[in-house]
Amino acid sequence: MEQTFIMIKPDGVQRGLVGEIIARFEKKGFTLKGLKLVSVERSFAEKHYADLSAKPFFNGLVEYIISGPVIAMVWEGKKVVLTGRKIIGATNPADSAPGTIRGDFAIDIGRNVIHGSDSVESARKEIALWFPEGVVGWQTSLQPWIYE
Ligand code: PPS
Repeated sequence: MEQTFIMIKPDGVQRGLVGEIIARFEKKGFTLKGLKLVSVERSFAEKHYADLSAKPFFNGLVEYIISGPVIAMVWEGKKVVLTGRKIIGATNPADSAPGTIRGDFAIDIGRNVIHGSDSVESARKEIALWFPEGVVGWQTSLQPWIYE
């Protein structure tokens, strides 16, 4: 089954949005496979966003991510990478539809509350980076009520 990496950024944690965000993924039917509250070092944030190192916003993005603890999660389910991105909404909250997390809770792109892997390959790399210890192997008993 497909997995994705989801991170609630420092603003989401500070604003008390953790429960609300987890609830949206849970209610959709996805399964939580890993979760931890972590404060990351600058070098770790730079590694996570390495593909963006040439972007003008890179330093600001790294400062933002290390400004407070984040919630790192692994969610599992059919098409969870793509669907997770839909639940999150467009990168710039100015373009995020109401009903999405960013559409409902964010205004500025530099405070957009949450990160989700953009492909199955990125998810694999990000899960390996954030959860080197691995994730919990379990299946919800609701499986037959969610998948035909
Ligand atoms: S790009 O430029 O198309 O590669 O960027 P994009 O795919 O839209 O976004 C990649 C991540 O960079 C963050 N981002 C920004 N942060 C701060 N300021 C500005 N201007 C900015 N533009 C993009 C964006 O939120 C993405 O981070 P994640 O954590 O993946 O959401």
